[in-house]
Amino acid sequence: MGGTVFSSQLLDWWDRHGRKDLPWQHPRSAYRVWVSEIMLQQTQVKTVIPYFHRFVRRFADIDALAAASEDEVLALWSGLGYYARARNLLKTARICQQDHDGDLPQTPGKLAALPGIGASTANAIYSQAHDKTAVILDGNVKRVLARYLAVPGWPGKSSVHKQLWQAAEGLLPQDRGADYTQAIMDLGATLCTRTNPGCADCPVNRSCKAYGSDSVAKFPARRPRIKISKKSFQMIILTDKEGKVLLEKRPPAGIWGGLWSLPADDDGTPLQQRLGLEDVNLRPLPGLQHQLTHVQMTINPLIGRSELLPTGVEYRPDQRWFGQQEWPHLGLPKPVRQLLETHLESNGT
Ligand code: ADE
Repeated sequence: MGGTVFSSQLLDWWDRHGRKDLPWQHPRSAYRVWVSEIMLQQTQVKTVIPYFHRFVRRFADIDALAAASEDEVLALWSGLGYYARARNLLKTARICQQDHDGDLPQTPGKLAALPGIGASTANAIYSQAHDKTAVILDGNVKRVLARYLAVPGWPGKSSVHKQLWQAAEGLLPQDRGADYTQAIMDLGATLCTRTNPGCADCPVNRSCKAYGSDSVAKFPARRPRIKISKKSFQMIILTDKEGKVLLEKRPPAGIWGGLWSLPADDDGTPLQQRLGLEDVNLRPLPGLQHQLTHVQMTINPLIGRSELLPTGVEYRPDQRWFGQQEWPHLGLPKPVRQLLETHLESNGT
């Protein structure tokens, strides 16, 4: 034993109530912990679990992942969102093969130098893969500590983040690093939730400053309002005689980077002109709303057939026709999948 009252109470609670059957805990390898931690960034455990199973079934280790194409990795990621995570996962696998003898490096500093791995994720991997104590500060943990110590300010602000990091260091136990990491995340995910926290059942309620001053709802302070911009653009569902649909690979940077998508005019280039369809009568479909963190999108879809195309239209190498057997397996933005499922499968256009 050792460490603080906080950590020993938390570990006792975890022994009785914590999550011990998460798929990345059995077996617990650095590779599996890494994949799970990347998937769990901004995403809940219950959403991640089926994706994790599929991913490690297809790519059992770093070598298998490093040999994959970006398209295949993105396809397995399709629906999880934040696709830069998938591209960084592949980049990191290839770097590990080249520079780290095919394994993830073992220190937090070297882990944090890899694409997609910040200081907290590096520590989460280090702690769980090698059973070491280390500070982790994901959203759940920030909420637990902001309440426990009644730390004012929005935790996304760097001064508040720094303060929480230092406090977290002071609360670490001397051993049981992996269990402690899981325990503090579990407390945040299951009891110390954002709304309706279960303070009466909390193992550390007696020393929690926010609970003690009846001000749990005040912590952590909310994020200052972010500006959400509005974006409205067209997308075209163009099918050929065999029912194949024209898709375009998005440029690597920006919204939906690297994913296959329906041709769109969100870059400002007039779409019908670009595709040589100026004189073609396309049928408008009902508009679609899609919200990203900073953007509220309105997509105005159009549908038509490629026989309508004037002859001699040049297609670019990042454009391809995909059949009914192919497109469901691609990495597609959510609204694009929704459009294709609604308008291609049902009526076989
Ligand atoms: N969020 C990030 N890592 C996690 C883990 N190992 N368990 C539960 N939630 C998490």
